[in-house]
Amino acid sequence: MPDLKGLIAERVRRVPVSGLHSFFGIAASMPDVISLGVGEPDFATPAPIVRAGYEAVYEKAIGYTANAGLKELRIAISENLERLYGVTYDPESEIIVTVGVSEGFKCVFTAICEEGDEIIVPHPCFVAYEPEIIFAGGTPVPVKCLAENDFEPLAEDIRAAVTDRTKAIFIGFPNNPTGAVLSRGNALKIAELAEELDLLVISDEIYDRLVYGEPHISVPALPGMRDRTVLMGGFSKDYAMTGWRVGYLCARPELMEAFSKVHQYAVMSAPTISQFAAVAAIEIGEPYVEEMRTEYDRRRKLVVSSLNEMGLSCFEPKGAFYAFPSVASTGLDGDTFANRLLMEEQVAVVPGSSFGIGGEDHVRIAYCKLYGEIETAFGRIRRFLDRL
Ligand SMILES: Cc1ncc(COP(=O)(O)O)c(C=O)c1O
Repeated sequence: MPDLKGLIAERVRRVPVSGLHSFFGIAASMPDVISLGVGEPDFATPAPIVRAGYEAVYEKAIGYTANAGLKELRIAISENLERLYGVTYDPESEIIVTVGVSEGFKCVFTAICEEGDEIIVPHPCFVAYEPEIIFAGGTPVPVKCLAENDFEPLAEDIRAAVTDRTKAIFIGFPNNPTGAVLSRGNALKIAELAEELDLLVISDEIYDRLVYGEPHISVPALPGMRDRTVLMGGFSKDYAMTGWRVGYLCARPELMEAFSKVHQYAVMSAPTISQFAAVAAIEIGEPYVEEMRTEYDRRRKLVVSSLNEMGLSCFEPKGAFYAFPSVASTGLDGDTFANRLLMEEQVAVVPGSSFGIGGEDHVRIAYCKLYGEIETAFGRIRRFLDRL
């Protein structure tokens, strides 16, 4: 057996195994655990969308699709983005259907990162952002977002992190783990900065339909931003389709040419059955999205009011399905809080440190769980706090 240290590339060794998985592993092995940990919709994929998938299996040839994806899906994505945000993408040359947004990360960073190129990443952020940049040879440069700024990145903080190696700003709003959304004023400032410094913006908008209050700000729809933005979108969260593995990338054709090279050699095409289901999701999924969004909003209100009532200060999340309370008032850090809560009361929440800098004194609570389960979990959290 060759020496493993020499065998495994340094950039892969540098990335630690996700702490989330070992944590969820422990939680899954314990009896009577209520998990507010995993960020996955508890809804089943709406039946008509599922039906479109299985009808395709019986009625259509399930071979590879075009590398860029089923043409009818690319047309549906294009029309949907135009309808929702007024931004237009040519289905022929500016949209690729990917294996979830996850594969989109791979295509984009492999295509743009030279060794040592810097990508600015506001923190706290989704756990896969930095590893994907590092795997591609890039260097993530974190910019801390503060609760007092509603967990939004500030243009001046981004500016301070820019060097002559900076290639792109990589943002994800509505945000996992904070539930923050991008306000229009702030988005415009970031857009101005990107223009002034001639930077690409990569925008993961996978939770775009899950907003509670202000409408979602789609970065490519901001003035002057369409051609300097790579838009990532998906079906996993908005349509409860995590296991179908479909997402998409949108950008101008010159960038798409590079992304599609990585995509076609890596996966050929996204799963065909899922692409047929995704067409149905766009065509008939709207009432289901609204129904799920309304229910998440009800749970969100329960979570925020319960946290406040318990004295755990929580910034009001306006998007996705996460709350990110501070546990500093308990005297415990996020890791200790989450571990003790799991061991003592069998409630799983995720330590905020898993999401980078700024998360240390926080935990992430995913409220994509039944209302009654959330109520029971909060009864246990209350008991835990009373004992501290
Ligand atoms: C912010 C964010 N982006 C991307 C993904 C991955 O999505 P997909 O299922 O489309 O690969 C997730 C999943 O949790 C996420 O939270």
